Amino acid sequence: MDLINNMEDIFIRNIIESLSVGIVVINNGGEIFYANDFALTTLGYVKEKFLARGWGEIFSFDVGENAEFNQIIIDVIMGEKLNMHREVDYLKPDGKKLRLSVATSLLKDKGDVAGIVVLIDDITEVYELRRLEICMLEEQQRLQQDLFEGVNKLAMSVAHVIRNPIASIGGFARLILKKAPVDWPYRGYLSSIDEGIQRLEKIVSSVKDYTDINKATIRRTSLSGLIATAIRNVEVITKKLGFSATWDVSLQCGDDVDVDPVLLLGAVEEILYNSVESFVSSAGKMRIKAHVGNDSQNPCEELYLEIEDNGSGISEKEMPFIFDPFFTTKTSNVGVGLLKVKKIVAAHGGSIYVDSKKGTGTKVTIRLPILPKT
Ligand SMILES: Nc1ncnc2c1ncn2[C@@H]1O[C@H](COP(=O)(O)OP(=O)(O)OP(=O)(O)O)[C@@H](O)[C@H]1O
Ligand SMILES: [Mg+2]
Repeated sequence: MDLINNMEDIFIRNIIESLSVGIVVINNGGEIFYANDFALTTLGYVKEKFLARGWGEIFSFDVGENAEFNQIIIDVIMGEKLNMHREVDYLKPDGKKLRLSVATSLLKDKGDVAGIVVLIDDITEVYELRRLEICMLEEQQRLQQDLFEGVNKLAMSVAHVIRNPIASIGGFARLILKKAPVDWPYRGYLSSIDEGIQRLEKIVSSVKDYTDINKATIRRTSLSGLIATAIRNVEVITKKLGFSATWDVSLQCGDDVDVDPVLLLGAVEEILYNSVESFVSSAGKMRIKAHVGNDSQNPCEELYLEIEDNGSGISEKEMPFIFDPFFTTKTSNVGVGLLKVKKIVAAHGGSIYVDSKKGTGTKVTIRLPILPKT
């Protein structure tokens, strides 16, 4: 029997010694009773200078650098924080810096506490990789922001610089057209110039509208009021196009929301313009639904605004380009509406999804991280 116990003991010791995780056992008196090879190598000590000594005695010389590491064990010894799992920095006696994952638990013998077990894992490599990844992501975001701001400034300058020449060319073309005799053979050319200039004026003004969208100024806003205003404004265009729309509006959330009312109204209108411009029959159907987030843990932190039409829909081929600047499938539009919506939603820290089926209709969902007030 003793032989078997002895074998078992050797077997367990071997396994513990060969583990690639450090194990340190501290007895009830606060003395280090056991440490496997991995723990000794990781912490930078030899067995003789580590065992049978108090934890505080060993680590007191470098409390400054290893304060956080020491505290974990002190907390456990004091019985304050048991079963802890923390990541901390550790400075080895040879000056090498490590990142350790430290877990603690009680060692129990027949229900009585016999000591504390400390599991130590060297996660320096993973930690460094994680830090590098975060740095790269931050750098990527900074570059993207720089690029975005650069493009924004360029667009703004181009729009500003070409605005005046366009206005004078257009003005003179229209003046000559007005003064020229009806049978003047070059009238057709001038009309083409005028049409081209009008299109350029529209593009410049759309680019200006886009670049003018800056930070959102958040104010308490009535959502139902904002939607009603958008519908009223869009109805003017709907009538001009010879269409009529039936509106189904349901707000399953509080009416007062914290948003930039001017920007959000502009975004809702752009989405509605697209819907009415996509109507295939003279009587289109619109459904606007607002509800708060479906995340059960934070049910009130997100507002979802869904705008659905039964218009022409977007083909799979066109879908990847709908947010691209100047992408349009319409003859006299510029193709910046959805780009503006995206910028407005981003200024609120939200996101936008478009779901569409050619021939069936389109649903645009805006998610805004706000807290609707009931
Ligand atoms: N509700 C919709 N139904 C069908 N197609 C849509 C809808 N919304 C967007 N689209 C498609 O996405 C394209 C891009 O939309 P966007 O609003 O950016 O530009 P636009 O409407 O063509 O021009 P602008 O908004 O500058 O007047 C549209 O030309 C159209 O093809
Ligand atoms: Mg549009």
